[in-house]
Amino acid sequence: MNKLLKIGMFGFGCVGQGLYGIFLKTSLNAEIIKICVKHRDKPRPIPMHHFTFDKEEILQNPDINLVVEMIDNADDAYHIVKTALQNGKNVVTANKKMLAEHLAELVELQKKYNVSLLYEASSCGSIPIIRNLEEYYDNDLLSSVSGIFNGSSNYILSKIFQEGWSYETALKKAQELGFAETDPTLDVGGFDAKYKLCIIAAHAYGIFVNPDDVLNYGIQTLSIYDQQYAQEKGVKIKLVASAIKTDNNEVVLSVLPTFIPKGHYLYHVENEYNAVIAEAAFADKQVFVGKGAGGYPTGSAMISDISANRFDYRYEYRKHNKANQNLTFTQNHIIEIFVRYHQESDLQYLPFEDISTQFIGKEFRYVIGKINLKNIFQNIEAIRKQNIFLVHTGK
Ligand code: HSE
Repeated sequence: MNKLLKIGMFGFGCVGQGLYGIFLKTSLNAEIIKICVKHRDKPRPIPMHHFTFDKEEILQNPDINLVVEMIDNADDAYHIVKTALQNGKNVVTANKKMLAEHLAELVELQKKYNVSLLYEASSCGSIPIIRNLEEYYDNDLLSSVSGIFNGSSNYILSKIFQEGWSYETALKKAQELGFAETDPTLDVGGFDAKYKLCIIAAHAYGIFVNPDDVLNYGIQTLSIYDQQYAQEKGVKIKLVASAIKTDNNEVVLSVLPTFIPKGHYLYHVENEYNAVIAEAAFADKQVFVGKGAGGYPTGSAMISDISANRFDYRYEYRKHNKANQNLTFTQNHIIEIFVRYHQESDLQYLPFEDISTQFIGKEFRYVIGKINLKNIFQNIEAIRKQNIFLVHTGK
């Protein structure tokens, strides 16, 4: 069946305009009835009769059968998406924070009201990772899903490492290009990547994890010393999100700056590109690379979800619903980290299990050692305030 889609859109920023541009070039059996926006005085690139400022005009319109949500505010997005589902409308959304925070409830609403909720664009922009995890990979065989899930921080790291830009200049440019969130701390602090990781973990392993329970440490305190260290060792630093299944049927989730050696699949992933490495028992490693931010790449994933709606596609959450589903989330996992610091007290919140290397220089010091992720997580607020930079060595 190829049903006529009558769309109510929320948001007309970078992604909304990207989607609109793509929409005009495609020939879907669909029409955009109204676009709801917040700011009355903002100049709009298309005539004003397309817009409304009243969300009810879309949510209560019985003719609209698909709500496409692309607004910035996660709380407002939650209310829009929830009401739309309750009113029997299918939903396509890109809002990763909203999804990660409310996924279990929204999945229940989707079932209860017999509607569909699709969100490919929420995780890694143009990379079709949700549907692949949902349809293709078998739960038992996936040993890890990891990669670069945030375009802005990858763009910043690329510009610093490859072109010698300052952190501030690179961040400003990422904002100008429309890659960064309104609050860029979400990008550079690893929060955005963490929301995407939680969504990906739901489809890779069938677990719904509250993002507040997951460790994220970002790139804000990267210094010239860390850059020099990495360059001397011939490695790059990337912000890596990872979901790893342990031998005890547990899944470890984290977002950490990570040393990436030459030859690693992520080494040449630069700028706003994202990459997802799926590691499976028999297929071994498979890598998906694509633009992770920007109006058109994100819009392209939204168009794919809109198109899937014509055929009543919906996620089944088979892994989550599996009767013998016995995977649990944990942060109890030992990793090796590098920490650049300046005085011993900087390390007070990092209880190492074992230290293999310690360097004391004039300008900075560093230590490499094993630590339990759960101990970093417990102290993360204090750790973020220290004059240090922490990097997962990859071991
Ligand atoms: N701020 C996000 C990023 C946008 O930089 O990846 C895409 O989700």
